[in-house]
Amino acid sequence: MTLIKPEMKMADVIHMNFMLLPVINRFDINLGFGDKSIFDLCLEKKIDTDFFLEIINTFNDEEYFPEKKLRTFDVSLLLQYLQKTHRYYLTFQIPTIEHLIDNLLKSCTSSCENLHLISSFFGDYKTELTKHIGREEKTVFPYISRVGQLYKEKDSVGYLALSQQYSMKRFTREHDNIDEKLFDLKNILIKYISLPYDSNLCNAVVFELFRLEKDIKDHSRIEDKILKPVVAEMENALKM
Ligand SMILES: [Fe+2]
Ligand SMILES: [Fe+2]
Repeated sequence: MTLIKPEMKMADVIHMNFMLLPVINRFDINLGFGDKSIFDLCLEKKIDTDFFLEIINTFNDEEYFPEKKLRTFDVSLLLQYLQKTHRYYLTFQIPTIEHLIDNLLKSCTSSCENLHLISSFFGDYKTELTKHIGREEKTVFPYISRVGQLYKEKDSVGYLALSQQYSMKRFTREHDNIDEKLFDLKNILIKYISLPYDSNLCNAVVFELFRLEKDIKDHSRIEDKILKPVVAEMENALKM
């Protein structure tokens, strides 16, 4: 797999892997790059180029996993990125799939039981994902921000009080796997849905579920393999 480097033109990177488009959008980089390189665009948007490269390389190649390097970045950069990904799921990707499932239901001409089942299964998944994200944004991320601040100030007393409320150990216990149910949903569509449904629409739902599943897997990988150890290291340093 090609390693994405700062001197590469962004247009060439997208020609190489168009799945990176939503990932770069989370950095406020949008279409219309012209011949600008990654370095030029990061400079223009005031983005840390190394951080940007680590994220897109992590998404571009599952084998690429620069845990050590990403761990040296400020934790607030990681939190900002993860929050943008949450927004993308809730305001774009989930509504897109809901819309496709609605259209699929409208295209159904006879017995539509299986499709109703898919629709309600996806509704349950949306509730679960929204709860998962809500918990991270209301409890986990504010805790991590505060740990980052206390770490900078070397404030062990402040941390002692904070540690009564939450910890990365608790996050490890609570952080559930939210991509597994998507696999089940895809599987029902692939194995058991048959005509008279609109097959193009059905394919579109399956494609979008594959895309969402991959994105959520990469997202969770960053939370478990990078965010968690970075914060645990700061917690250890703050323990008196
Ligand atoms: Fe998350
Ligand atoms: Fe998560």
